[in-house]
Amino acid sequence: MTRVLSVASECAPLVKTGGLADVAGALPGALADLGDEMRTLLPGYRSVMGQVKKAKAVATFSDLFGGPARVMAAKLAGLDLLVLDAPHLYDRPGSPYLGENGHDWPDNPERFAALSYAAAHIALKGADKWKPQVIHGHDWQAGFIPEYLHEMSGGKGGVPFVFTIHNIAFHGNTGPDRIKALGLSDWRFNADHFEFWGHVSALKAGLTGADRITTVSKTYAEELMTPEFGMGMDGVLRARRDDLTGIVNGIDTEVWNPGTDPQIKVYKTAKGKGPNKTALRKEFGLKKSDGPLCVLISRLTYQKGIDLILEALPALLARGGQLALLGTGETALEVALLERAAAEPNVGVRIGYDEALSHRMIAAGDAILVPSRFEPCGLTQLYGLRYGTVPLVALTGGLADTVINASPAALAQGVATGVQFTPVTGEALANAFTRLCDLYAAPKTWAAIQKNAMKQPVGWETSAADYSALYAGLLEG
Ligand code: ADP
Ligand code: GLC
Repeated sequence: MTRVLSVASECAPLVKTGGLADVAGALPGALADLGDEMRTLLPGYRSVMGQVKKAKAVATFSDLFGGPARVMAAKLAGLDLLVLDAPHLYDRPGSPYLGENGHDWPDNPERFAALSYAAAHIALKGADKWKPQVIHGHDWQAGFIPEYLHEMSGGKGGVPFVFTIHNIAFHGNTGPDRIKALGLSDWRFNADHFEFWGHVSALKAGLTGADRITTVSKTYAEELMTPEFGMGMDGVLRARRDDLTGIVNGIDTEVWNPGTDPQIKVYKTAKGKGPNKTALRKEFGLKKSDGPLCVLISRLTYQKGIDLILEALPALLARGGQLALLGTGETALEVALLERAAAEPNVGVRIGYDEALSHRMIAAGDAILVPSRFEPCGLTQLYGLRYGTVPLVALTGGLADTVINASPAALAQGVATGVQFTPVTGEALANAFTRLCDLYAAPKTWAAIQKNAMKQPVGWETSAADYSALYAGLLEG
């Protein structure tokens, strides 16, 4: 049994912009089943403080990057939380990262340095009569933890640090003029620590300072070490190859359970999808059609390949297929999608963030689309598998690891769970739409794929055991 402090900038169900929140929210429970004790440190955003009712202060800071702050211990949604209450940094409207103008908060470096500082403080001094044996930080927001551990312990460090990359696209960069303000050491502004092409990089600090690095699938772990996917950090990661592992994400199989999901007309086998499909078509203003009803739920960004959907859509529509899409993100993509929905009777688009609708869509869809250019793990294809909603995915990252392509060989062996395409282009996606429609038109084959999909183990059991072993391994030697 290991005591672990998890440090994350978002955590479901309290605050979520993407899959990181799901992982941070689900891992503690999965580890508890194995006997590990994980507490989660997260920023006291206005929305989070509003949910924390009963809490006690377990650490205080008279001046944490510009104002007083305290760590509040609270139990909420089955989680053991340590919430960093620092009004000067977090008590404001908007998302965790962006102001209402859609731009990063200018003090993001300080906001998340504070989180990392508080983590190092808790690790070394304890809080609530509790001291972690391992710190597990997520993404650049936790990147400075090894730097602060080093500073506070007079160079000894002392508490092992596991650093997980969910998305290497975000580096948490700032200028060297902020080094002092961030409480970092000038002499460590070099390529072995947190210097990255003349910038101060929180991500690089985490990558160079971590005892172990993980990312959220095996394929992405390999991809990260290539210039194509490494976003400039591939060299750093190649140098740390021996300490880098991929541990695939699971999903919360209670929240995502077609047999009990309160948002849907529940079903045990994919045959029971019918009423959900009828209801969703109505909700999206779609008529009955012969082809597959495809759903897509995503942040609308370049990463997610949404532009490729627009390009390849004719191939799906030509076969009587339909698209129901839910997402929010880049304005140009939102506009283009709404225009397409207005022009095509078989396309429905909802711009916004809607958890309940996402459940209805997964339950209703024949197929779920994930055409990402890169995807460290991806969660919606896992929901799809669990609900017998056949994933059509790009052959990359976690999408490569979690879906078994319906190749002739896989079909013959009866193991196919979805459709994969490569390269990640509009043309290849159009071909994949055609393959999907061919499979859909063969009801026995389709039913077999759905059945295989629903049998896949998509919960946390195996991966939580991998994390648990990783923590334990750090304490052995
Ligand atoms: P990422 O973290 O890169 O956004 P993931 O697939 O790992 O991608 O996780 C995305 C999570 O956010 C999933 O739980 C997905 O269902 C959810 N999500 C994304 N967009 C929306 C939306 N518009 N409405 C509801 N849920 C969404
Ligand atoms: C990131 C990735 C996504 C992954 C999620 C949780 O946001 O883009 O692929 O599933 O983190 O690890």
